[in-house]
Amino acid sequence: MTTVDLTGRVAVVSGGASGIGAAAAELLSARGAIVEVLDLPDLDVTDEAAVVGRFEGIVERHGRLDLAANCAGVNGAYGPITDLSLGEWRRVLDVNLTGVFLCLREELRHMERGSIVNVSSGAGMRGFANLAHYVASKHGVIGLTRSAAVERARTGVRVNAVAPGVIRTPMLEDFCGHDEDALVAMGRLAPIGRLGTAREVAEAIVWLLSDASEFVTGAVLCADGGVSAA
Ligand SMILES: NC(=O)c1ccc[n+]([C@@H]2O[C@H](COP(=O)([O-])OP(=O)(O)OC[C@H]3O[C@@H](n4cnc5c(N)ncnc54)[C@H](O)[C@@H]3O)[C@@H](O)[C@H]2O)c1
Repeated sequence: MTTVDLTGRVAVVSGGASGIGAAAAELLSARGAIVEVLDLPDLDVTDEAAVVGRFEGIVERHGRLDLAANCAGVNGAYGPITDLSLGEWRRVLDVNLTGVFLCLREELRHMERGSIVNVSSGAGMRGFANLAHYVASKHGVIGLTRSAAVERARTGVRVNAVAPGVIRTPMLEDFCGHDEDALVAMGRLAPIGRLGTAREVAEAIVWLLSDASEFVTGAVLCADGGVSAA
């Protein structure tokens, strides 16, 4: 097996300051890519003008864009649909779906050939009680990914998604109230018996971004310790 070599490729990682995005940015950089991190407070992925301007700046600086991982996301407030406010619905959909759309649109506009990975979730493939807005946003990411993949398949731009399972990141730690027992118990629910790491998801992202996955587009790669198989 050869190590993926991304020397000289220009990559963008949204949500690259923490968790899965930070691990992806680090791994891309270790594989030789030039990495631009997009994250708060410098860039809000829901701000159309800011996203358009930031991508223009990146392409002006590097002359090209080859790879992109759209990782920025937020969790939703936990509760039944009957208690879900329109404001909270919009907040989650705005970041998790519209934010991916805005970044993806600029990536497709600026990329001649290359590979894009959108971060969905196991929650993008089945329903979960009390997280309807998060679940809807992650299903949306998969629909957007598949549509973009089909639209650009003949142009040398590939678009795939990863669907992480339960991954130990600041987002998950917040969700579990930083309760170590709850985190370990959550990991035990996966067939593999533990939580995933951000690095393990980053490995899947980087494989999809690399030429090693040349014939793969429109796919959803589960990095979930077997959850979706059970
Ligand atoms: N951790 C998990 O168990 C898990 C499981 C499935 C999917 N995911 C998805 O993986 C992605 C990364 O999550 P994570 O667990 O690494 O969380 P995280 O909170 O560690 O990282 C999320 C990053 O997104 C950034 N972000 C949030 N809103 C933003 C905005 N408006 N503009 C720009 N950046 C913004 C944050 O600042 C942060 O750096 C998310 O899309 C999340 O939904 C996570």
